Formats: sequence, C-alpha cells, structure tokens
Amino acid sequence: MGEQEALPIILKGLKRLEYRGYDSAGVALIRDNNLLVYKKKGKVAELENYLQDKVQTGSIGMGHTRWATHGEPNDTNAHPHYSSDNRLALIHNGIIENYASIKQELLRKGHHFLGQTDSEVFIHFIEQIQKENECSLFEAVRIALNEVVGAYAIVVMSADAPNQLLAARKSSPLVIGIGKDRQEFWLASDATPIIEYTNEVVYLDDLQIAVMQKGSLEIKDIRAALGDVVSTPYIQYLDLTLDAIEKGGFDSFMLKEIFEQPESVRNCLRGRLIASTQHLQLGGITKHIDKLLNAKRIIILGCGTSWHAGLVAEYIFEELARIPVEVEYASEFRYRNPIINPDDAVIAISQSGETADTLAAIDLAKSRGATIFGVCNVVGSSIARATHEGAYTHAGPEIGVASTKAFTAQVTVLLMMALVIAKKRGTVSDAQFSELLYELENIPEKIAKALQFNAQIEDIAKIYKNASNMIYLGRGFNFPVALEGALKLKEISYIHAEGYPAAEMKHGPIALIDAEMPVVFIAIKDSSYEKVVSNIQEVKARKGRVIAIVNEGDTFIATMADHVIEIPSTYEILTPLLTVIPLQLLAYHIAVMRGCNVDQPRNLAKSVTVE
Ligand code: F6R
Repeated sequence: MGEQEALPIILKGLKRLEYRGYDSAGVALIRDNNLLVYKKKGKVAELENYLQDKVQTGSIGMGHTRWATHGEPNDTNAHPHYSSDNRLALIHNGIIENYASIKQELLRKGHHFLGQTDSEVFIHFIEQIQKENECSLFEAVRIALNEVVGAYAIVVMSADAPNQLLAARKSSPLVIGIGKDRQEFWLASDATPIIEYTNEVVYLDDLQIAVMQKGSLEIKDIRAALGDVVSTPYIQYLDLTLDAIEKGGFDSFMLKEIFEQPESVRNCLRGRLIASTQHLQLGGITKHIDKLLNAKRIIILGCGTSWHAGLVAEYIFEELARIPVEVEYASEFRYRNPIINPDDAVIAISQSGETADTLAAIDLAKSRGATIFGVCNVVGSSIARATHEGAYTHAGPEIGVASTKAFTAQVTVLLMMALVIAKKRGTVSDAQFSELLYELENIPEKIAKALQFNAQIEDIAKIYKNASNMIYLGRGFNFPVALEGALKLKEISYIHAEGYPAAEMKHGPIALIDAEMPVVFIAIKDSSYEKVVSNIQEVKARKGRVIAIVNEGDTFIATMADHVIEIPSTYEILTPLLTVIPLQLLAYHIAVMRGCNVDQPRNLAKSVTVE
C-alpha cells in the first residue's frame, strides 16, 4: 500500500512467491471505496491473463498464491476471501484447526459459504465479531485471533478503511517492507518480492498484529491483556540482491541452483575456514559451545532433504566428535514423548527456516530444557529466531522447490560444526584436522569438476527417462545421499524411487530387480568399496541396469556397470558433497525430458508452513 499502483506490484510479487504455492491465485483491490476481488485456479500467469481486460487502479491491494490444505484448488477456494457484505477481504497462510466449529456457529447465524476453506470461515468470523460488538476492525481481528486455534499469517483489508492494512502472525511467516517515511508498505511471506523496493524490513513476531496506514506502522500484541502495548518495530536491513532471486540465463531455478554450488559452498566457508592459518570458527555457536562440547547426545531434527543432511551429519559427528547422534523426523519427534536430557544438544536443520513441523519440534525440545542450535538458510526466518544459537548456510535464496544447494551448504556447515567440536574435544588429531580443513577449502573446485559431467548425465537420462521405478543404493556416509537422490527423482519427475543402504538390498528390495529396473549405485573408493562391488554384481546377476557413481579413473566398475559417472576423489567424510551432484543432475534431466516443471513440481510447496 502507499504511493504506487498496487496491482503490478502484487502480480510481480506473486510470481516471485509462486514457488511457495502455486495451485491458484487471486488479488483484492479497493477502488472508489469498493472491494474488487479476482481469483483464478492455476498459476499466477493465468490470473494475470484473466485480469488483462479488466481495468484496476488503486494504491492498496493484496494478493495470494495458494497451496491447498482445506478444499480443492479452484477459483472459489483461492484467496483472497471476502465477507458476506463484500466489504472485508483476507489472505491467509496456515491452518485454522477449529474452523469447523466456528463455521457451524456462523451457519447458525445465517452466513453462507462459497467454498470449503478454513480461511473463508476466518473472514466471516471477523465480520460477525465486528457486527456483534460494534467495534473497530482492529478489535474484531484481535478478538478473532484470540479465538482461533492453529497457525496463521493474515492480511486484512476493508473497503470502509481504504487506507489501512492489518496483518498478524502465529507460526507462519510475515515480513513488512518499509518505504521512505513510512509512506509505502509491502507485505509478503518472505523478503523476495520486497527487495526490489526497499531493504528495510520488519519480521513480525508470533502473536503480533501490525496496523499500517500511510505514514505509520504500529505493532501490537494480539493477546487482549497486552493488546494496547505498542512495540517499536525492529527494522532489519536485508542483504539480498535482485540477481540472487532471478534465473540468470538458466532454464530453471533448479539448474541455476545446482550449478551455483561451487559458489554457494564457498560462501558458506567464507570467513569461517582458512586452512593456511588453521582457522575454523562458526561465530554463531560460540556462546553455547559448551553445550555441544559436553553433550552426551546430539539430537538432529529436520524434514525431507534437511533430514537427509542430518543423517549425513550423524555419520560425521560420530566419526569426528565421537558423540552419539540421533536424527529424527521433526514431524514424528513432535508427536511422541521424546526423552530429552539436560546434557543433550539439539540441532535443527531447515533451508526455509519456516517448516512448521521443525518449528514445533524445536518448541517441544526447548520446553524440556534443551539448547537448540539452528542450521538455516533464510536469514531472519522463524526457526533462526526460535533457536538459541546457530550458523547460517549462506547458500543464497533457493527458489527451485527441490532442494539442491541448500543440502550441500547444510552438510558443509555441519562438517565445520563437527570439526570445531572434535578439535576442542581432542577427538581428531592435529594432522587429520589440518588435512580436512585443506580438503574442505578445496571442495568447491571439486564440485565444479563434478558438474562438468553434466552432458554425459543428460545422455544417461535419455536412456532412463521412461523408467517407472528406480532404486538408489549407497553405504556409510553415502547412504543418506542415496535417499536424497531418490527423493530428488520422485519429487520432480514423478518416477517412483527408493533409496536403501546397499547391504539392505538382499533383505527384500532385491526381489524388485529385473531387466526393467535401473539401479543407481554410489560406488566410490571408500571403506565399503568392495562390498558395494559385490552388491553391483548381485544386481547384474539379476539383469538390473546399473548406473554407478565412481571415482575418476575407476576402470574396474566400468567393466560391470552399464554406465559410470565420475566424481573427483576426496576424503570419505567429504564425499556426500560430491556424490549428490550427479544425482541432482540425473533427476533434473529426467524430469525435463518428461516435460515436468522442475521448479514447481505438482502438489509441492517450497516452505511447508502447515503440518
Ligand atoms: C526436497 C525438499 C523438501 C524440504 C523439506 C524441509 O527437495 O525441498 O523435502 O527439504 O520440506 O524444508 P526446510 O529445509 O525448508 O525445512
């Protein structure tokens, strides 16, 4: 809201945010004191086409791109939602868990609903409260927020207050960009649509409600007792450039992000590791470092790819720091009754820093007295703020829905963490520590070399693009990489894929092997090389097709595998940073050849802010 035409800014912003959800989109504007709402199933581009022959002007508005939770993706269920009298509009991320009972009550009071969403119920609820209490919109929103159970980031607009926007959050992110003299405001779920206009932002905290009017921004607490306390907005300066969120000549964000990895890993190491002076420091974990040094156990929490990075870290921490590690799906951890001891340290891993399950698991661990360390990519994100300390991955914005550069950056940070702890605990020798620092410093070059096999991987993808199933096998540090390779393939190409520890194959999955089954082996020269060679032979004996990731110069595996893809050699502990590269590229090329949208795969969203 503010000085400029709102609609072009909203549409551009929605496109930048589309990676977070893309099944339908809509906008609401106020013109001549009337509310105009336009919504369309599908991508933002479809909404834009639909709006082409409709003239809309006005300097206040809001838009939304949806990832369906309640109600199928269609025009009606798209946001913004509006009240019965067509005067109030709302956009909402999150889930209102008690919406069914609120809806029942509203139906009884005569409300009609057009769709099935919890969000539509939300705006009718606000309308009803305002009517019954004859109060201001602010009061009505605040009362409603105290009644609803669940997660939300909302923006509310009223045709009767055409110069005002209200926004509030609980568990779902919301950023406010602030223009010169507070004459303009831009709100979004993350900073990507805002940086074009300003780098001054306020991240709303949980249970805060912001009131924006030209020239003023007020932030209050939604809890009634505290509601009149105005807090001074804490303005942060974003260190983000527009280039970082554009494709830069690549066909997709995913490909750009895969190829950015030499640079993103270098950025992650920058200032933290200098091998020549044996300098290794993670500034973000110094205050509570004793908790890690003396931990009897480390619990690692994450989801999806971040969980895979956690599994790699389990091997790394146990090998280097000799501390037992448990890696938990955040979504499972939060719903059992986990045993957390005062001498446990918790590490939560999240690219977006907004994953609802990880956030809830952190809250649970915190409530039981644990010290939590975060490994996040998005600066200022909810998880980064909820943890006691942490280290950012500095991989830059990851827009492609499938996580790639975040994984290598997470593993890099976790490696540095383990090395810091191992050095202080005396569980690595000086020589080993020094060698690993030099090798880690050099790893971006080796990632660049692994990327040079892109064309060869594309040729292999042509052969397997029509596969119905694929198996990924690896051992030790590379078992989690096998899981990650399988996840990449299934999420962007929709081919069913499974990852296993190679030795587990004979306990069941080997039954799947026939001439139609491609099997990707991570078969590098590490401590289990011979065993993996035997596993390859077992697959070949059953006519399976083998694609093997091998060390450069390995001519032996080439004699038995159908295809080999080389990666440079490195220390075993660092291999996941290289073996994952060909797996990302293989999934990418197969998906592109199958005509899939690799940046926005079906049914997925980048930040999973609902459970
Ligand atoms: C996979 C992927 C997801 C995320 C998961 C956790 O490519 O992107 O599996 O890794 O949703 O997300 P973050 O790391 O943001 O917590």
